[in-house]
Amino acid sequence: MSSHLDPAEWVFQSYGRACNDPRFFEVFYTNFMSKSDEIRAMFVDTDMSAQRGLLRGGVMWLVMHARGMSDTKIRALGESHSKKRMNIHPSLYGQWLDALMETLQAFDTEFSAELDKVWREVLNPGIKLIQDMYED
Ligand code: HEM
Repeated sequence: MSSHLDPAEWVFQSYGRACNDPRFFEVFYTNFMSKSDEIRAMFVDTDMSAQRGLLRGGVMWLVMHARGMSDTKIRALGESHSKKRMNIHPSLYGQWLDALMETLQAFDTEFSAELDKVWREVLNPGIKLIQDMYED
């Protein structure tokens, strides 16, 4: 079923339904870390309860960016995830996005194949900005 909402608004409401449940971010990291040993290894020394809170904001910045907010917060993520700082290779974002979609599917009761596509389209410009800052 398609929505009458514009894409960024539809995604915003989907995120509201899904992250209402505090387990959302726990399940996201379980899904994300199950993608590879390389990804799991990056979080061995991480305080995951703090990390879950930080990700809640990070996804919100991506969504707000799509709704027209300035790119300041996204650029800060681009810097922290760059080669010089945390060295998060651009190829890892595909698995990040897949893990996010799997988690949304489990937590948003209104999730659908169409909403999956819309989520990816809405987040991609922000993710691309972060990836493009990798070498800076
Ligand atoms: C667009 C997608 C992503 C978002 C929104 C995001 C968001 C965040 C945020 C908000 C932080 C807290 C520190 C900071 O603000 O820089 C963080 C830290 C981190 N992120 Fe990401 N991230 C993304 C993708 C990734 C990917 C693909 C990886 C690869 C495995 C990754 C690995 C990490 C690591 C290792 C940390 C530091 C954890 C620690 O403090 O020990 N992130 N991320």
